[in-house]
Amino acid sequence: MPIEVELQELAAGIAREAGELARERRAAGVALAATKSTLADIVTEADREVEQLIRDRLSADRPGDGFLGEESGAADSETGITWVVDPIDGTVNYAYGIPSYNVSIAAVRGGDDPDAWEALAAAVYAPAVDELFTAARGGGAWLGGLRLGVTRPNPAGALLATGFGYDPATHDGDLATVRRVMPLARDLRRIGSAALDLAYVAAGRLDGYFERGLKPWDFAAGALLVEEAGGLVTRIDTASARPMIIAAGPELHARLSAVLET
Ligand code: IPD
Repeated sequence: MPIEVELQELAAGIAREAGELARERRAAGVALAATKSTLADIVTEADREVEQLIRDRLSADRPGDGFLGEESGAADSETGITWVVDPIDGTVNYAYGIPSYNVSIAAVRGGDDPDAWEALAAAVYAPAVDELFTAARGGGAWLGGLRLGVTRPNPAGALLATGFGYDPATHDGDLATVRRVMPLARDLRRIGSAALDLAYVAAGRLDGYFERGLKPWDFAAGALLVEEAGGLVTRIDTASARPMIIAAGPELHARLSAVLET
């Protein structure tokens, strides 16, 4: 079995188990562990517990692989493969009982620089709706047994999604970006989970997505889903503190990039 498919199956199994734990903890009542940088940047006890479960499963199965998690930091890789994990992406949704949250797991190859990473496998599991999105490089993107493909949106207007930075000082800039993009949009969503935004672009539920300031664990898995579904994902302004991700099918990606890169 190709290594990409092996890693996809491992990621899928662990994402399911981790998602079930998140859903159980949610049903029992969420304990907020801390606010991090701002009011919107929170961590719950469940984020920490779920990340620990993922870390334990991965180190039992693949000792020597590296790890980068939102809550528990990094461990170096001895194998050239690193796991990039957001235990609960969409934590604010999770804390408020909105079902749009997920476990996001990617296996990447490369050194320390996320811009040089090549994602090999990905799993994004949304336990509240029991949807498991997976991809293996060269093997397509899947929702369960259904092969995914990006849209060719109506040129008159695309269904787009975005997100806003945690730091209120960044909101004016994010809103100015939205204003520039709106002429291309049929409508705009703010779902509150970057990995689901990307999974939905892969699944054709959204035509395109853009957001500034994402961290590798927010996009590593979702970006592979989009690429394997025939879309493009680019990062622009990488020298800035808040590079922007643009994800869409090729035609819309070109139109979004023309607006966002100027
Ligand atoms: C956040 C969500 C949100 C996005 C933020 C992310 P978290 O992840 O994906 O939609 O706008 O940029 O940090 O903190 O819930 O894991």
